[in-house]
Amino acid sequence: RELRIIEVKSEIGAGTRGSSLGSDAIKIAALDFGSRFFKQHKLTEIPNENHLLLESSGNAHAKRISGVLTMTERISDEVCKTLQNKEFPVVLSGDHSCSAGTVSGIRKAFPKLKVGVIWVDAHSDIHSPYTTPSGNMHGMPIAVLLDEDNLDCRVNTPDQETLNYWYQLKNIGNIAPKITYSDLVYIALRDFEKEEKYLLDKNKVKIFPISAIRKDGVEKIADATLKYLDHCDLIYVSFDVDSLDPSHLKGTGTPVPGGMTKKEAEELVVRLVSDKKVCCFEIAEVNPTLDKDNLMSENAFEILRHASDTILTV
Ligand code: ARG
Ligand code: MN
Ligand code: MN
Ligand code: MN
Repeated sequence: RELRIIEVKSEIGAGTRGSSLGSDAIKIAALDFGSRFFKQHKLTEIPNENHLLLESSGNAHAKRISGVLTMTERISDEVCKTLQNKEFPVVLSGDHSCSAGTVSGIRKAFPKLKVGVIWVDAHSDIHSPYTTPSGNMHGMPIAVLLDEDNLDCRVNTPDQETLNYWYQLKNIGNIAPKITYSDLVYIALRDFEKEEKYLLDKNKVKIFPISAIRKDGVEKIADATLKYLDHCDLIYVSFDVDSLDPSHLKGTGTPVPGGMTKKEAEELVVRLVSDKKVCCFEIAEVNPTLDKDNLMSENAFEILRHASDTILTV
């Protein structure tokens, strides 16, 4: 197999500035480790829409949604092209709203296949404009993929322009929904709003909390996750670095106590990507402006390198 690194320096879906610098900070971590990783693999950078951050923001319940739509289309096209070229896409994202584009690209490349999503994250990112507490679109990619509006637990009244963009976003590639609830597994989930909890319960979504990891160990959790997604033809692994514990890994915009250690995360990811159905791996939400000594990026780089080594041997 050959890897292609897809670099997405976008942060328009986040509420805190700085995640667009994540991929460059990971490259600096690689240099500090003396690693040739970024010389060895092909790399494509996707143009971003970060200029929108300087414009006055409408769309209070889906901030910069026009830009997120543009980014989602670009990422989808690039991931699709990469897969069609028989390369393995490793996506270094900024904020997590990018992931809707990644999965769209997988679906576009293989329209007949069922894609499972492993979401390693402190958050469930399953809000819609009707329920978001922040308007930040990095809290919405899973709802985009599920074609979920969350109408029966709505708290907001988004304007018509927002809803038009939302509809376009969910329908990118003319495939909606792109996944169903049974194609989704959360690992390390520990922070959600009550509307998100309602949706997860209602749809009986599979969740492995930190307590399960501590009780059974990461290998068992990884195996149970893959087994749960047995009915899927392909699997995408999304790694939001806020799944890690913020006690010393601070470089991310929405830290939540009680996360995984670096060792747990690395072993988990390596075990997951050693399944041959895994066709794409993404790291999101590294924010070096919130960090000390570039520590999060160094940890993210080591996870990336071990995951990549594994992917190449499968
Ligand atoms: N649920 C919160 C929100 O919607 C936090 C989402 C954080 N998401 C992330 N990808 N870091 O604002
Ligand atoms: Mn996330
Ligand atoms: Mn998160
Ligand atoms: Mn919260």
